[in-house]
Amino acid sequence: MIKYIGSKRALLDPILSSVRGLLPDGGIVCDLFSGSARVGHALKGQGYRVWSNDHNAYAHTLATAYVQADRNRWADQAAVVLADLASTAPAEGWFTKTFCEDARFFHPANGARIDAMRDRIDAMGLEPELKAIALVSLMEAADRVDSTAGVHMAYMKRWADRALNPLTLRMPDLQPATEAGPCRATQGDALDIAGQFDGDLVYLDPPYNQHSYLGNYHVWESLVLWDKPETYGIANKRVDVRTRKSAFNSRPGIGPALSAVVDAIRAPNLIVSFNDEGYLSRDELERMLSARGHVQVIDIARPRYVGARIGIHNHKGKKVGAVGRLRNVEHLFVVSDRPMALPVAA
Ligand SMILES: C[S@@+](CC[C@H](N)C(=O)[O-])C[C@H]1O[C@@H](n2cnc3c(N)ncnc32)[C@H](O)[C@@H]1O
Repeated sequence: MIKYIGSKRALLDPILSSVRGLLPDGGIVCDLFSGSARVGHALKGQGYRVWSNDHNAYAHTLATAYVQADRNRWADQAAVVLADLASTAPAEGWFTKTFCEDARFFHPANGARIDAMRDRIDAMGLEPELKAIALVSLMEAADRVDSTAGVHMAYMKRWADRALNPLTLRMPDLQPATEAGPCRATQGDALDIAGQFDGDLVYLDPPYNQHSYLGNYHVWESLVLWDKPETYGIANKRVDVRTRKSAFNSRPGIGPALSAVVDAIRAPNLIVSFNDEGYLSRDELERMLSARGHVQVIDIARPRYVGARIGIHNHKGKKVGAVGRLRNVEHLFVVSDRPMALPVAA
C-alpha cells in the first residue's frame, strides 16, 4: 500500500480488537475518513461488512480496490489487465513533463511508463472496480520508485536510490467477498455519509492539523483523475488544492466539524483515532464523545513520520524545518451505548 501520513497500519491490532470487543459476532462498519483504506481492508478481512468513505478521489480509488472489489470476482481479469499494462511501451506525456522534469518526484524513465500505462487504462474502458485495481497497482508501483520523503510537497535534491529502479506493477492484495454482504466505497463529505449510514459501528480518523491531504498527495489525485490540471509552485500542485478545503484542517473548524459528524451518526458504537499533536485535546474529545455513551481511551506511543526524523528540505536540498519530537501518542476513543471491557493496549 502507499506511504500515507496518518495511516493506521501500525495500529490495526488495537483497532481490530476494539471492533471485535464491541461487535464479537460481526456487523456493519463504516470508515468515514478512509485514506489508505488499510482499516477497511483489514475489517473486511475479518468478515465485517464495510463502507469506506473519503472525500479525495485517490483515496476513493484505494477503497474501491481494497474494500469494495472482491478478489474472487476480479483477480483473474486484473491479472490480464496488469500484464497488458506491463507490456505497454513508455511514452512521455503530461505526467513526465509535470512531475519528472518541471518537478522531480519521479525519474523521467518511470514518468514515461506512468504516462503510457495511465493512457492505456483509460483506453481499455474497464469497469469501475477493475479500473480502480489497475490504478491502485500503478499508484503503488509509482510510490515504490518516488524521490520524496513521503509527501508530494517537495522532492529530493538528488534522485533517491529507489527512483532509479524501473517501475513494476504488482497485484494489489484484494480481499475475498464477505458472507456479511457487499462492501462499498464512496467519495463524499464525512458529514453527508455519517447521516446515511445505518449500521453497527463508525470509525473516525479525521485529519488532525493544518496539513491538507490533497496538498500532500496531489500527484495521486492528478494520476487518478487524469484531468491534467493547471498547476502551481515548486511541487506543481493542482490549482484546486487552493479551493478544495477540509474543515478538519482548520483549528477553529475542526471542533464544530467533528461534533456535527458525531451528532449525525446513528450507529451505537464509535471508535475515534486522534493523536496528541492534533488541534483537539484528549479532554475535549472525551467531553464531546461522552454525550454518546461510555468512553474508554487507549493510548499507544508511536515513532513520528520520517519527515520529522530527518527534517524537511526544500527543492535545493536545504534543510528548512527542524527535526521535531521523535514520538507521539495515538489515542483510540472507544465509545459505546453500553458498558464494555476492552483490551488495554501498550
Ligand atoms: C488521518 S487520514 C485517514 C487515515 C486512514 N485511517 C488510514 O489508515 O490510512 C484522514 C483522511 O480524511 C480525509 N478527509 C479530510 N476531510 C474529509 C471530509 N470532510 N470528508 C471525508 N474525508 C475527509 C483525507 O483525505 C484523509 O485521507
